[in-house]
Amino acid sequence: MLSKLLFVALVASPLVAAHGKVAVITGDAGGNTTALGIQGGIVPGPGKNSVTEVDTTVFNSKKALSNGLGKTTGGGANTLAGMSAVMAQSGSVLPQVSNGGSISGTIHIVTTDGAGPYTAVVDPTGTGAFASGTEATVTTQVPGKNGNIAAPNQRRFLPRMLVKMGLMKRAKNVNEDYPFSATIPAGTTCSGTVGGQSNVCLVKLVNPSGAGPFGGVIAIQMAGAANSSAAPAAAPAAAAAGTTTAEAAKAGKAGAAAKKAKPVGAKFRA
Ligand SMILES: *[C@@H]1O[C@H](CO)[C@@H](O)[C@H](O)[C@H]1NC(C)=O
Ligand SMILES: *[C@@H]1O[C@H](CO)[C@@H](O)[C@H](O)[C@H]1NC(C)=O
Repeated sequence: MLSKLLFVALVASPLVAAHGKVAVITGDAGGNTTALGIQGGIVPGPGKNSVTEVDTTVFNSKKALSNGLGKTTGGGANTLAGMSAVMAQSGSVLPQVSNGGSISGTIHIVTTDGAGPYTAVVDPTGTGAFASGTEATVTTQVPGKNGNIAAPNQRRFLPRMLVKMGLMKRAKNVNEDYPFSATIPAGTTCSGTVGGQSNVCLVKLVNPSGAGPFGGVIAIQMAGAANSSAAPAAAPAAAAAGTTTAEAAKAGKAGAAAKKAKPVGAKFRA
């Protein structure tokens, strides 16, 4: 009986999905954003994994420097077009980063496999081509070991032992926010077009979880170089709409080009 229980527990644990997601990221020169696929406050913090994990991105490859935007169980494949939904939530000014500056914000550990350490990879093409991206230096790290952290109610000795023995589910709700920051390499030039913005870089924030990896993809701009289309306040509505359409078309082309060039990530760019 005990061995049967043990077997069930051991088999069940790896199947329990677990997650860590990007809540908000700001640039050192202003602006803020959230990650592709994030649904915002409608997703509860505490609760069953099936309801708390819906907008956490899971990536296809275990390697941080790999192509693709990932997917969520709630929204399916993340796409560049999804950046419009991101900006509807967090505003039209993406994080603005000064030369050699940084991004900082909050990573939300949803369940126990969504912990740190996180890696940040900058894709200056803004297409999801992270295999040829550059790692940013993480200066404030999310706690965790190999992407795992004990749930608040697993942090005492006995529950820790039960988890080790496989008698307590690993992927439990954590529902904790941790600060995160990283230095974007000096000299970075962003050339992507996303969500009606030009001169955009994408940044992939990803943990090393064997059940994932988990994290998210955000868009940033280098301050001053980038934001001509980020200040459309004075433009007449019709002109603004025209710009948006043109930019969207450009984004579509950029996406298609990326698809051809980067087969590894193509399945995440529907
Ligand atoms: C993000 O920026 C918007 C303005 O674009 C602001 O209203 C909002 O408070 C900011 N959010 C955070 C978390 O900084
Ligand atoms: C946008 O760019 C202008 C210069 O082109 C700069 O003065 C301004 O600070 C930038 N805005 C942000 C939010 O970085």
